Amino acid sequence: MAQRTLARYLTEEHRNKGRIPADLKFLIEVVSRACQAISIAIGKGGLGGVLGEAGSDNVQGEAQKKLDVLSNEILLEANEWGGHLAAMASEEMDLPHLVPNRFPKGEYLLTFDPLDGSSNIDVNVSIGTIFSVLKSPEGADLSTAAAAEQAFLQPGTAQVAAGYAVYGPTTLLVLTVGDGVAVFTLDREQGQFILTQEHVQIPADTKEFAINMSNQRFWETPVKRYVDEMVAGKTGPLGKDYNMRWVASMVADVHRIMTRGGIFMYPMDSKMQAQGGKLRLMYEANPMAFLVEQAGGAATTGRERILDIVPDRLHQRVPVILGSRNEVDRVTGYHGN
Ligand code: AHG
Ligand code: MN
Ligand code: MN
Ligand code: MN
Repeated sequence: MAQRTLARYLTEEHRNKGRIPADLKFLIEVVSRACQAISIAIGKGGLGGVLGEAGSDNVQGEAQKKLDVLSNEILLEANEWGGHLAAMASEEMDLPHLVPNRFPKGEYLLTFDPLDGSSNIDVNVSIGTIFSVLKSPEGADLSTAAAAEQAFLQPGTAQVAAGYAVYGPTTLLVLTVGDGVAVFTLDREQGQFILTQEHVQIPADTKEFAINMSNQRFWETPVKRYVDEMVAGKTGPLGKDYNMRWVASMVADVHRIMTRGGIFMYPMDSKMQAQGGKLRLMYEANPMAFLVEQAGGAATTGRERILDIVPDRLHQRVPVILGSRNEVDRVTGYHGN
């Protein structure tokens, strides 16, 4: 059977299922091209001069790596000319980026974490790009970057597409347009993403958890209890032995869960309380929660469903607990929900 490229998958979603309009199909293809360009830059590593610090800080107060900045630029440049977007927002930019006046404007908003897993760049471990697509509300004020922030403040349930690229031993694009989750593998010779898995399903049960254990003393009681119970193993209250994995690139940790199940937690902790958590709602938690739910999993903060949160600011942070449904339900239950 002929290979199904990303373009063909999107065309079928558009033509046969009427799920996505032509301009959303185009938008996703453009994002996928940008991810290919980022993948090529990453592949050059030290030979391409892309490793190391950029020498600047982002709005999160993090030191930017060269690849954080480069990936952000690649995504902006790829997406601003096509006429499908009204504005873009990113982890690496204080304010939204408006489509310049020389280009036509479209009806979509794109948010992204251009390079996820920055701490893994220089050690040659998997990193990624995460993106989310919203519709710009009717009559939204896009006259200035500051005014445009308001248009983005929609709950995750309003997302029309979300995905991530993971730059690992192979480069993959994992996508949802609200019709399940599909995985595409980059064929480097063809320069195309080829469909390699459809209808991804996260098993409801798991014996594998992902959390940064060095934060244990900062966690709230419900998460402490849950992790203690998992670590207690077969003779503990959960009655099974668990394994632990923590890559520290959300894309890689979530991709493992997409592949074989598991639970990922970056829960509320006392260090991060003032900021609301570690991970960012609009371009990390929401797209991942959409993907995970589309694959039959669950995603909460411990207290509420991530996709139901109505954001009050672009760079809002939230606690994240996601993955295999029965485990997410258990720890969410421990929070009293
Ligand atoms: P980013 O590199 O985009 O800033 O995101 C890093 C995030 C996420 O990918 C990961 O799950 C988490 O930070 C790792 O945090 P720790 O280093 O605290 O484990
Ligand atoms: Mn960062
Ligand atoms: Mn990130
Ligand atoms: Mn990032």
